[in-house]
Amino acid sequence: MIVVTGATGTIGRALVEELGGAVRAVVRRAEQGEELGCDYVVGDLERPESIPLEPGDRLFLNSALWPGFVRAHQAVVDHAAAAGVAQVVTVSVRGVTSSSLLGFGMHGQVDEHLKASGVPWSILAPVGFMQNLAGDVDEEGRIFGSYGRGGVGYIDARDIAAVAAVLLTRPVGADATYELTGPVAPTHDEVAAELTRALGRTVRYVDLRVEEAAVHLERRGMPAQAARDLAELMSQIGDGRWASTTTTVADILGREPISLREFLG
Ligand SMILES: NC(=O)c1ccc[n+]([C@@H]2O[C@H](COP(=O)([O-])OP(=O)(O)OC[C@H]3O[C@@H](n4cnc5c(N)ncnc54)[C@H](OP(=O)(O)O)[C@@H]3O)[C@@H](O)[C@H]2O)c1
Repeated sequence: MIVVTGATGTIGRALVEELGGAVRAVVRRAEQGEELGCDYVVGDLERPESIPLEPGDRLFLNSALWPGFVRAHQAVVDHAAAAGVAQVVTVSVRGVTSSSLLGFGMHGQVDEHLKASGVPWSILAPVGFMQNLAGDVDEEGRIFGSYGRGGVGYIDARDIAAVAAVLLTRPVGADATYELTGPVAPTHDEVAAELTRALGRTVRYVDLRVEEAAVHLERRGMPAQAARDLAELMSQIGDGRWASTTTTVADILGREPISLREFLG
């Protein structure tokens, strides 16, 4: 059985579709399961025992980030190990460690726990999702950030789901981290140009120094420390750590990853 957590999310929905619904989805409310139209159980990552797992099951472990994310995901990994699950496929972020800032550090902690758990594992380590880009454009057509001229190999989350589907259905391979990117790594000026073309209105990238970006985020309602850390994180990303692309999506899927232009249509 392939058990899919986060099944109502961006990656999860695409994964359920990739697998033709031949999964058991873990959803927090029954109506979400009915809407997905596949086998489902009502469960919560905060209550690992609510996720039924049998020896030999394959588990897709994914959710949005929240303050209890590390504790919950680690407990689900322990639950999977105790149940004799054959493989955990999870979503992390490219290049993170347990001491990375914000959610990146949370992922680093869960990854470390999974690697030490004894359960066969595959960690998907993507960069930013194309799905978020249009939502970053404000009413005046601006995207703010502190990425400088650093490129980011933005990926379509559907490619992450497609890779997960292959890993969950082929024989369990060696434990590995899969760094996933789109086909190219545009700068944010180039992203803005693509958005301008697709949205039919001018979109401009406004690059801010870290301190300015922190103030900007705080004005939008983010707590001061989180705003400062996020601004710092954007500048770290801008140093080029997400600027190289990998061939992993193409190697696994046998086709090129979806480009930003294809994604935006
Ligand atoms: N966005 C990016 O650019 C980016 C880049 C790299 C990595 N990532 C990582 O990708 C992951 C997010 O994937 P996504 O975009 O597919 O997620 P998403 O669309 O935000 O969906 C989150 C899913 O998690 C479920 N969920 C949240 N809390 C839960 C809980 N306590 N128990 C059970 N399910 C719970 C949600 O269920 P409900 O429908 O019930 O809320 C939903 O199905 C995160 O780990 C993020 O750090 C994101």
